[in-house]
Amino acid sequence: MRLPGAFGVTLPEPDDFEFWRDQARALVQRDVPPDRVAWIEPGGAGDLFAGGRRRLPSPGADAPPVRASRAFVQLAKTAICHSDPERFALLYRLLWRMQGSPRLLEDGADPEVRRLDEMARAVRRDIHKMRAFVRFRLVEGGDGGAGEHYVAWFEPEHHILRANAGFFVRRFANMTWSILTPRGSLHWDRAVLEEGPPAQRSDAPAGDPTEELWRRYYASIFNPARLKVGAMLKEMPRKYWKNMPEAALIPELVAGAQSRESQMVAAGTLEMGERPTSLSAIDKAIHACRMCPIGLLDNRAVMGEGPRDAALMIVGEQPGDQEDLAGRPFVGPAGQLLDRHLERAGIDRRSAYVTNAVKHFKFVQRGKRRLHQTPTAKEVDICRWWLEGERELVQPRLVLAMGASAARGMLGKTVSISKVRGAPHPLEDGSELWVTAHPSYLLRLDGPAREEQSRLFDADLAAVKERLEELT
Ligand code: URA
Repeated sequence: MRLPGAFGVTLPEPDDFEFWRDQARALVQRDVPPDRVAWIEPGGAGDLFAGGRRRLPSPGADAPPVRASRAFVQLAKTAICHSDPERFALLYRLLWRMQGSPRLLEDGADPEVRRLDEMARAVRRDIHKMRAFVRFRLVEGGDGGAGEHYVAWFEPEHHILRANAGFFVRRFANMTWSILTPRGSLHWDRAVLEEGPPAQRSDAPAGDPTEELWRRYYASIFNPARLKVGAMLKEMPRKYWKNMPEAALIPELVAGAQSRESQMVAAGTLEMGERPTSLSAIDKAIHACRMCPIGLLDNRAVMGEGPRDAALMIVGEQPGDQEDLAGRPFVGPAGQLLDRHLERAGIDRRSAYVTNAVKHFKFVQRGKRRLHQTPTAKEVDICRWWLEGERELVQPRLVLAMGASAARGMLGKTVSISKVRGAPHPLEDGSELWVTAHPSYLLRLDGPAREEQSRLFDADLAAVKERLEELT
């Protein structure tokens, strides 16, 4: 039965999708048309129904089911973070219409469907910008101990703070930090995340010694050969510059780019600046690394592990889902298979330094699953900076690269595994590179093909073991 009169729904939080969904569902079940509902932001104005509001009675057990496609729910969850006060009403109008037209969302020409899509895109962009442009500043303690507290100021366009909280907690789990914004704040003490009230820019510190580090870091990764000023401004709009210490370098870098580029071309190399000089410093630096888009995904960097003076270095492609969760290389299914083959070859994994060509897990989200994606050649090349740093410090006598990405990470060019496996490739520092297949490749095979590849893998490991004994 259609309820007469008007209803006002005040959201407890501006991004509270669950609340909106429960209310919207009950309103649809009560047959309340969109023009009879006022959706009000917490503390917001625009209550057209003031004085005439009524509480919504709970729908009875016999209430009809409410139809909403999974795609709609996904888009609505994102779009609800938009700052447009009209978003709740738009979502409700769409939900209402969807009851009679379940495939409404497929109509890309529908103005309301388009608006929903635009809103979701704008929110995703804002989430991405926050991940890329938040810069922490040290406010307490400077000794690297537990007293260090980092604070960042950021001005999001939309209500994305909560949606991004998990990313910052995972990425900066071992730091005590606060992110202050005009829409609210987040505080993490290495164990508990708390939400706080909106802040002002003057609540955040203006500068500290880490700024110089950021500047140096960006100056070192800045590659004039790739400089496209238009694209850079699009990615990093000027409004974010004021909170980014390294932005002070931009005009200077742009001005110097041409001459630096010609110098580098003349020298046949692109310089990258100074690299951290200890494995623990590399570990810290890769967690902050955003030199390629993989660093902006919701993941964490996974550092290599093993003895600092290992004679054998084993290189994989990139951490997988389980490695990302555990923060250690080769602990998932590929790692377990590798362990079995290493044992068969008589190689003690604990004596090797095990790492990856790419330090972050590249994936696409499909529902709850994170599906592995192969890094591009460019991403592998960018991450060589860190792999080379590890190799310089560990100085292994022999490096075993497993799979095409690892081989590229070592050689800087793509090679065919079947052509280069089974023989040593001398490296410039006197050590040797050996290349073999990646254990994940074996996992994808079955039957005789799996047996054949396992045999080849065992043969490669046996050759590596023999050669190691000669070299050490
Ligand atoms: N695959 C890799 O290449 N590396 C890992 O750490 C795990 C799986």
